[in-house]
Amino acid sequence: EIYQASTTAPVNIAVVKYWGKRDPKLNLPTNSSISVTLSQSDLRTHTTAACSSKFPSEDTLLLNSSPQDTSGARTQACFRELRSLRSALEASDFSLPKISSLPLRIVSENNFPTAAGLASSAAGFAALVRAIADLYQLPASPTELSRIARQGSGSACRSLFGGYVAWQMGTKDDGSDSLAVEVAPASHWPTMRALILVVSAEKKGVSSTSGMQITVATSELFQRRAEVVVPKHMSEMEEAIKAKDFEKFGKVTMMESNSFHSVCSDTFPPIFYLNDVSKAAIRVVEDINKKAGKIIAAYTFDAGPNAVIYYEEENTAAVAGVVKGALEGLDGWQSREIESQDAGNLDARAVQVLKDGVSRVILTQVGEGPISTKDS
Ligand code: DP6
Repeated sequence: EIYQASTTAPVNIAVVKYWGKRDPKLNLPTNSSISVTLSQSDLRTHTTAACSSKFPSEDTLLLNSSPQDTSGARTQACFRELRSLRSALEASDFSLPKISSLPLRIVSENNFPTAAGLASSAAGFAALVRAIADLYQLPASPTELSRIARQGSGSACRSLFGGYVAWQMGTKDDGSDSLAVEVAPASHWPTMRALILVVSAEKKGVSSTSGMQITVATSELFQRRAEVVVPKHMSEMEEAIKAKDFEKFGKVTMMESNSFHSVCSDTFPPIFYLNDVSKAAIRVVEDINKKAGKIIAAYTFDAGPNAVIYYEEENTAAVAGVVKGALEGLDGWQSREIESQDAGNLDARAVQVLKDGVSRVILTQVGEGPISTKDS
């Protein structure tokens, strides 16, 4: 017999950034963070988890049809935690089939290019944990599962929820209180849009896992960020989301991104994720906001040069339309009906740098958490 369950899980993009581990083994962070979950119509991982006594004895994982190493500590931690919850269930209810010790076969597909540097590990680990939890029929809430997904990749814990999500850093050494919680569902503020400018980067930079550890070890600015800046941004961001106050949301989002990239430059040796194309995107967002006379667009960057620009639906023309006017002809605009607007207001040199450096755009919006499908 083969037991099986499938799920999809979303990508999330942080507006208060996770950067720094107080425990690298358990992936316990040095600060809390907040993210927006993006729509799975545009970006998601689909994962099927199966187990059977007929499978070869080793656990296997296929990602976009290519075999992945499952012996790494992160994947092993997720498997171990989920198996132990299942075996506790089996011990308390003898009618349940004993499947916790059977080999696992995990098959994952991304509906977006994995190499584009778009938080694929977050969706990947969230889907893996959700799918195995469903396979094992665990009565676990998204918050309980976030404790496990966190051990796969920190940011993955936030992809177990839709909408607006906080990862509370917690204080305990065992990580039992380092968990994701919902700040607000997508339906609370459904008009949030995201325009992603995918930057064609030649070489892969420093991974977030190693980058943040060098920051913790060497940056003098880092301590102030973790102790003063982030706690302030956390409370301001929660207020902004609750009040659907885009000006406040946008200001904190941009200042957070700037603060995160400042501690990256303050790392020794320095880490630079932003390139000239990223800086041109910042300039364009500033020009858009200047023209509007208030903050209607907000940029943020993770551990790579891609820009994510948040805006509200009512400003589609003034934000996405104007960027389309400047970057007509790129792949991705056809995914949403966006009308080109005059981009004459934008800095001409910044526009040229974007034209040369952006390979495609992704137009998306706030979305729902993992969606499980019952398999036989
Ligand atoms: C800049 O979650 O990829 O995107 O826990 O080592 O897997 P690991 O790191 P990861 O780091 C994400 C860093 C970030 C900010 C964020 O998503 O909050």
